[in-house]
Amino acid sequence: MAATAIRFFELNTGAKIPSFGLGTWQSDPGVVADAVTTAIKAGYRHIDCAQIYGNENEIGGALKKLFAEGLVKREELWITSKLWCNNHAPEDVPKALDQTLQDLQLDYLDLYLIHWPVSMKKGSVGFKPENLSQPDIPNTWKAMEGLHDSGKARAIGVSNFSTKKLGDLLAVARVPPAVNQVECHPSWHQQKLHAFCKSKGIHLTGYSPLGSPGIRSIKSDILTNPIVTMLAEKLGKTPAQVALRWGLQMDHSVIPKSTKEARINENFDVFDWSIPEDLFAKFSEIHRRGLLRVLHLCMRL
Ligand code: A2P
Repeated sequence: MAATAIRFFELNTGAKIPSFGLGTWQSDPGVVADAVTTAIKAGYRHIDCAQIYGNENEIGGALKKLFAEGLVKREELWITSKLWCNNHAPEDVPKALDQTLQDLQLDYLDLYLIHWPVSMKKGSVGFKPENLSQPDIPNTWKAMEGLHDSGKARAIGVSNFSTKKLGDLLAVARVPPAVNQVECHPSWHQQKLHAFCKSKGIHLTGYSPLGSPGIRSIKSDILTNPIVTMLAEKLGKTPAQVALRWGLQMDHSVIPKSTKEARINENFDVFDWSIPEDLFAKFSEIHRRGLLRVLHLCMRL
């Protein structure tokens, strides 16, 4: 198992986000507590959560136990969560954060993100056309800025924002977003968006860094992609490690999800080696796949 130190990225707030975190989307209640515990024992210091994942309560229980056992201190962890689309009304934003904090049994988050630039009617579930409402991101963001001012969200940011939407937000933001979390992996490099983020001092976190191979209907081929498997063989690593190491070398943080102890450990072993430049260039040959996947997800959520 890798005991190598995690690297950090400095945000525009001055805070340092660990470059590697545990994703918890589709980590079911019943297994997510063990996954978080295993990850933290392995050395993970960053847990990526969201209210819509339906498991923050159980994650909170695991964190409480880890703190009580003295295995980790709150201030050593980076906890992210996200505001769901049906809580975009400014008066609902602080209530949503309070619910998340209550579920996670925490006093503050390190990072709170607007999950999607899409608003849904209060109480509605799923991205169905009849549930959508007109987004007013500037007003939602003002409420997010209030959470930042209060110290309950030490950094605020967004997720699934395009260059255009980020630009619109930056034009009105008093507190600029610290992070944009988007799908990013060897078959979806997000080069233009990442360059824009960098030029504005916004950190990019890549979700689904393995291409979410567990989702059957949109099964991605990253872990079986011939270029990735060839590189894995040459480097004596697994395809998952190669995909994650690619993300780190592209200068963004990665948050792979797993609930399996062996994979949680395997995924973390990406710090004391690197992909040499000549082999790294091979990633540009991997065809872009991702947009369809996100559209697909939008329809299913
Ligand atoms: P599991 O939780 O059963 O380990 P992503 O983070 O890109 O969304 O990918 C998550 C998916 O990839 C989950 O289905 C997870 O399954 C699987 N996974 C995580 N780590 C690995 C790995 N090292 N090798 C193969 N599959 C993995």
